[in-house]
Amino acid sequence: MYSTSATNAPKINPTAEDFLPLNGTDYVEFYVGNAKQSAYYYINAFGFQPLAYAGLETGVKDRASYVLQQDKIRIVLTTSLVADSEISKHVQQHGDGVKVVALWVDDARLSFNETVKRGAKPFMEPREESDEHGKVVRSGIRTYGDTVHIFVERKDYKGTFLPGYKAWNAPYSAPVVGLKYIDHMVGNVGWNEMNTWINFYKEVMGFAQLISFDDKDISTDYTALMSKVMSNGNGRIKFPINEPAEGKKKSQIEEYLDFYGGPGVQHIAVATDDILHTVSDLRKRGVEFLVVPETYYEDLKSRIGNIDESIEDLKNLNILVDRDDEGYLLQIFTKPVEDRPTVFFEIIQRKGAKSFGKGNFKALFEAIEREQELRGTL
Ligand code: FE2
Repeated sequence: MYSTSATNAPKINPTAEDFLPLNGTDYVEFYVGNAKQSAYYYINAFGFQPLAYAGLETGVKDRASYVLQQDKIRIVLTTSLVADSEISKHVQQHGDGVKVVALWVDDARLSFNETVKRGAKPFMEPREESDEHGKVVRSGIRTYGDTVHIFVERKDYKGTFLPGYKAWNAPYSAPVVGLKYIDHMVGNVGWNEMNTWINFYKEVMGFAQLISFDDKDISTDYTALMSKVMSNGNGRIKFPINEPAEGKKKSQIEEYLDFYGGPGVQHIAVATDDILHTVSDLRKRGVEFLVVPETYYEDLKSRIGNIDESIEDLKNLNILVDRDDEGYLLQIFTKPVEDRPTVFFEIIQRKGAKSFGKGNFKALFEAIEREQELRGTL
């Protein structure tokens, strides 16, 4: 994870209050129908490395969790071993999806007390867990839908992941693909709920808004959405929030809400230093991406100006480019990584740009609409 605590980190978003403060994303936990097979997919398709395991063999009776890591990104895949549990209900309602966005803090008790005092709904009272490697304090609050934030205080812990987990020596592994850290995580919320959640991140978490779009910025002939980006003070946590907007046909956000059964995490953007290499590897391993038409690349040079990469290489891999005042970024979006059209990944390489690829929204939404058309949900 990040080597320094956030206390002395530079302020990227000066208007954020940053009272927690957050050092970074600690882990992202998915509740899934079959964690063993999901782990195989994330290892072989995305290059995550086996890290830790908890389940029957480690004395846990009701669930199995596989922890995977790639550079600073840690994901946990958890499944229920019993019919009637919070996990199995979550999977029944939402399909495979993100339950926990865990945030690394210096003081999990303070984080809980402060956010609850400011209006957060408690999910987990502060709890100390320990083993022979030390102790961890965790606490949790609720955010949109059934999603939660867990605060993790691990300054007194030297173990692999968390108490209760054992190092996982998987009988297989695959090379990494160069994914480095989580750049941002996007939440989809319901009609007219965006400002509620913008205020939640502002008032309860001390975040501030980075950039805003209105529905005219990001709509096509058919579908529309509204989006605002919230970030903490050091910029290590960036949460864009989307809500559907009225268009001629069904918004992609509404499609998500229908299939997820309410608000939830829409996509996880992971950063790489070499997107050409990363995407070419991911493609070889069977990861599916959204397709933009060749015409996207015809006037790319005039829209974007000079870039280090060859347009031909970008076109071959279907990678998108956008520019802002500070530089440019390269990005590509996977198709949903489960059968319901819900959660997907973005691969992003920043070359100075601090924005989110607004210039690509039209091309992307048209690509999503073609997929919706195939699904009969447009
Ligand atoms: Fe994104």
